Parts: sequence; structure tokens; C-alpha cells
Amino acid sequence: MKLRVFGGSPLNGEISLQGAKNAATKAMIASLLTEEECVLDNFPLIGDTEITAELCRVLGSQINVSGKRLTIKTPAIIKNNELQLSRRNRIPILTLGPLLSRCGEAEVPFLGGDKIGPRPVDIHLGALRAMGAAIEDSGDSFRARAPHGLTGTKIALRYPSVGATENIIFAAVLAKGKTVIQNAAVEPEIIDIVKFLQKMGAIIEPGTNRVIYIEGVPKLYGASHVIMPDRNEAVSFAALALSTGGNIFVKGAAQEHLLTFLNVVRRIGGEYEVRPEGIEFRRRGELRSAHIETDTHPGFMTDWQQPLAVVLTQAPGVSIIHETVYEDRFGYTRDLNLMGADIKVVSKCLGELNCRFNQCNHMHSAVISGESKLKGGNVVVRDLRSGMAHIIAALTANGETVIDGIEEIDRGYENIDTRLKELGANIIREV
Ligand code: EPU
Repeated sequence: MKLRVFGGSPLNGEISLQGAKNAATKAMIASLLTEEECVLDNFPLIGDTEITAELCRVLGSQINVSGKRLTIKTPAIIKNNELQLSRRNRIPILTLGPLLSRCGEAEVPFLGGDKIGPRPVDIHLGALRAMGAAIEDSGDSFRARAPHGLTGTKIALRYPSVGATENIIFAAVLAKGKTVIQNAAVEPEIIDIVKFLQKMGAIIEPGTNRVIYIEGVPKLYGASHVIMPDRNEAVSFAALALSTGGNIFVKGAAQEHLLTFLNVVRRIGGEYEVRPEGIEFRRRGELRSAHIETDTHPGFMTDWQQPLAVVLTQAPGVSIIHETVYEDRFGYTRDLNLMGADIKVVSKCLGELNCRFNQCNHMHSAVISGESKLKGGNVVVRDLRSGMAHIIAALTANGETVIDGIEEIDRGYENIDTRLKELGANIIREV
């Protein structure tokens, strides 16, 4: 599927955030830890939640969707080795904990690399092994067994991985004894899942200095939860306002999830007004260049650098983005250059953060020289977040842009074309 976008005009108006993709899919996995019914509100109807629903159904879940409410109940795990459907996103590895707790055995496919780097799962596997799981590598899947259950222990992560932290939490809530995760990830989406699990009966205590304490309980129960708003959507729409020179009120945007981003908005000459129902974004005058380094929370999120890069093409001067989370997340800058941007990507660490990619030859620093007049072009979506950068660039550019492969964008943004039309965007979806 394609989007045909006619850009060059400021976007204005109000847009409401959907529930967070990266909390909703995990909440579905959390629900597998009980045989009782769970109710998830503000649930986003996007490609990734559909894929996760298919996976859960194969495992034994009964799922109903009504408007923005999803109910999910898994009375019994009927299959613990879904290997086909689940290769399409990175959620299957997170089923290891719930499946080991409920049936003592599980098999999940290798997730493979994708267009933003190799994305290994060694931290997940190391932690589950430390909790007593025997995990074999069968060539294209991981077979895990814990016939006598998992046991809590102290686990120090070599890197605060979001997925690994979630996987350990899922494994630990029903394990015997206490688990302590040191150097844990503490993204708001993880805290959202902790809140949901707490309602289900879990005992989880986020401490200071990235330590999370979990006390295993014998059983979890059904619960209801409202999925937090999607802060990645909030940043995408804010970038759209700044890049096109418009004024967008992002309904549902929460300041507490966006502190680092809002500081950057102010530094680059953007303006925002925090209101009880959301945040309004616009330019204050001419945009200014900036130096940004992506990091784990509470740092500047890696999923925000793509929309921001488009904004920085509109700022006079030299901007730098140092990506320290993924080794290969600047492929999309080639497309922006075809549309008239001037972005050079280098392997040197252009920043001060302690970066795992130092001296590794990964192209992980971008130098953006602005201001550039963007023009329409033909691009193909590489991955979800850079697909959104294509849309923002297309709406900023003069002329027509054709964006192919928008199924990738649909994985994370609900009805993106229809919603952007409400802001005045001239977009046509073509099958
Ligand atoms: N890593 C390892 N070994 C592991 C796990 C991770 O080396 O066992 C490395 C990864 O290769 C990567 C870094 O650690 O370089 C961070 O990975 P992390 O595990 O934190 O990320 P994730 O759980 O795979 C989630 C989001 C991503 C988001 C990152 C960082 C989901 C489904 N995905 O991925 O979101 O960028 O955290 O915040 O929650 C997106 O929504 O488009 C997206 C890519």
C-alpha cells in the first residue's frame, strides 16, 4: 500500500493520541499470566496489536474487541510453541515467562535482525537461565523448560534493555522467592505494565537507581487497565507542527512522559503549552540547530530521533544526532537526502554519552546541515519510526511524495492518513 502526499502547507488543529503500542502489546502478554479475564481500555487497533492478538489466540486466548476496549481471557494454554505467526514482531520472546509459569515448557522462534540493527536477545536468555530455565537453541527457535518452576534471583543487566526487563518481570511475578533486577529499563511503558500486573495481584517495587524488586506470588487474577497514551505518537505530531510551521494540539499528551523531548522543543525554538487535556505545539520564530544524543529513559528516546531529524532539516546551522541505543538506525536519512536534505552519517561517536558503539564502525552519528528546502520524491518505508519521518518530510516538502510500504507504519499508528487529514493534510491512500 502507498500514501500519496501533497506537502508544503502548515498543519493545524487537534489530534488525539491512541493507547501506546509498546504498552498494549505487553499488557496482552501480561494477561497470559492468569486464566481470568482482563479488560484493556484505550486499546490501539494497529498492526502490532493484531499480530499479538493472533499469537495469543493460538496460545489459547479468547479475545473480544469493542471500540477501544479489548477483553482477553486465557483459561488454558493450548499450545506453547507458536512458531509461524509470531515471526512478524518482537513480542514472542516475551511469552517465555508466562508460558514457563503456566506449563513449564515453551518454544519461541528466533526473532532475527531487522532494519535497525541485529537486535539480539542474549540478555533475555541469560536472565531466564539465571532463574532456572533450561534453554536450548534449536537452530531457528529457543526451547525453554522449567518443569519445577522458576526461582527468583539477583540479575544485573549489562544494558537496560526494555524487552529483557519486561521478560524478567513476567517470569518473576509467579516465580518462587524474590527477584532483583539491577540496571533495569524504567521506560514509562514498563511502569504501565507494572501497574497492570500490580492490579492482577503481583508484588513489584521499582526502587532507585534502576533497581526493580519483585516478590513472587502463587497466583494472579483478572484486572482492568487503561493503556497509557502513546508518547511516540505525541512526538511525531509535535514534530509535524514544528516542521510544517503549524499549530497542533496533541490531546492526551502527558508532560511526565515527555520531559526530555519538551526541553529539546524549547532549545530548538519551538513553543509548547501544557494543558490538563494535552499539549499544544508550534514554532516560536526561526528554528535553531541542536545536539541530541538518544538514550534509555529518562534520556531522549531512540524512537524520537527520526521525526526530530526532519524538523532539524528546517533549522539553519549544523545539528547532530548521536544514536546510542541502536547501531543502525539512520538508513532513512538517505531518503531525506533524496528529498533535498543535507545529512551525513558517520561512525564516530559525536557526543559525550558512554556509547557501546565507540570504535565499532557502526554508522550511528548524523550531521544535519540546515535549512533545506525539501521537495517531493518516491520513498519506501524501512521501519515504523522512519516511516513516520517520511510522512513528516512529505508534508513539509513542496510537491508530491509517494510513500510505499505503509503497512509498516500501520503497525504502530492507527488510521494515520485519516487522522492527519483532520489537521489539513493532503494525503491519499492507494492500495
Ligand atoms: N539488546 C541486546 N541484547 C538483548 C536485548 C537488547 O544487545 O538481549 C540491545 C538491542 O540490540 C538494542 C538495545 O539493546 O541495541 C535496546 O534494545 P531493547 O531491548 O531496549 O529494545 P526492545 O525491547 O527490543 C523496545 C521497543 C522499541 C524501542 C526500544 C528502546 C517494543 C516492542 N519495542 O524494543 O520500539 O525502540 O524498546 O526504547 O517495545 C518501535 O516502537 O518502533 C520500537 C522499535
